[in-house]
Amino acid sequence: MMDVAVATDSTAPGLDPDNALFLVELARRGLDARPVVWDDAAVDWSAFRLCVVRATWDYVLRRAEFLAWAERVAAVTRLGNDAPTLRWASHKSYLRDLDERGVHIVPTQFVDRGTPLSLAELMDARGWREAVVKPAVSASGRETFKAARGDLASAQERFERLVAAEDALVQAYMAGVTDSGEVSLVYIAGVYSHALRRRPAAGDFRVQGLYGGSIERVRPRTSELLVADRVLEAGPRGPLYARVDILEDGAGELRLNEYELVEPRLHFALCREAAARFADAVCGALRGTKEARVRAAAQEQA
Ligand SMILES: Nc1ncnc2c1ncn2[C@@H]1O[C@H](COP(=O)(O)OP(=O)(O)O)[C@@H](O)[C@H]1O
Ligand SMILES: [Mg+2]
Repeated sequence: MMDVAVATDSTAPGLDPDNALFLVELARRGLDARPVVWDDAAVDWSAFRLCVVRATWDYVLRRAEFLAWAERVAAVTRLGNDAPTLRWASHKSYLRDLDERGVHIVPTQFVDRGTPLSLAELMDARGWREAVVKPAVSASGRETFKAARGDLASAQERFERLVAAEDALVQAYMAGVTDSGEVSLVYIAGVYSHALRRRPAAGDFRVQGLYGGSIERVRPRTSELLVADRVLEAGPRGPLYARVDILEDGAGELRLNEYELVEPRLHFALCREAAARFADAVCGALRGTKEARVRAAAQEQA
């Protein structure tokens, strides 16, 4: 029996450098932990005591297959984050649930695949001069673009192509992103761990490094911690890891952009202690499973 499978994808079968720091901390604690490609058909998941989802980025284009995999794994071993959490968090319609539970999300119009919609009419109705269009199942700013009310011809075309293929979101543009960037608060086993601020390159609004964005570790403001704590409370119970991404609108109001519970980068390189904290949380989860087994065995004997 091996201890921990760290689920990755075939683009990084040996894990990315950041998650490798987590792997080292697991090894330091005497655990037999190894990266495993999630869609490798040869893997026997029941041979692991725990599977931690970390770098399964390529699920985005085949979510159903990924969720079926999660169910299969969960049937034979323990999975973190758990399968219902992965299902809920892998489609941005979860923002609607959080909105209903009182979280201030980025103002959003949810558009189901194949639904006709005029961006001009929507933006006029909601009073948006600028909007952002994105797929509902996404990562790394895939197919994400800005639309300005004065110049919608090509944006409308691009939006229609997107919605013909998949569910999408149209959101108010959070103008604070150019100066303040996006703040990410990382939680390990439900407890706040560290925070990062990512800023876009000049002329862009996407903060990802892929588009030239920069990143630094920051001390979060109290207001940001309050928003993030609120999100954790409103979301699924007991996530092993979580990242709350916050944007500011033009007036400096904080809005939830994303609640990441599937494959967020946790940026251990900028916070080494967090990799150790995460490994400790995994040890705790493993002790939990062992204790649960002992209890179950005792009950069976009684
Ligand atoms: N409504 C918005 N206003 C301003 N910038 C946005 C908005 N939505 C997304 N962005 C920018 O685009 C990036 C990618 O979008 P995001 O919603 O984080 O999706 P994902 O990370 O799943 O690709 C964000 O990190 C942010 O820089
Ligand atoms: Mg994001």
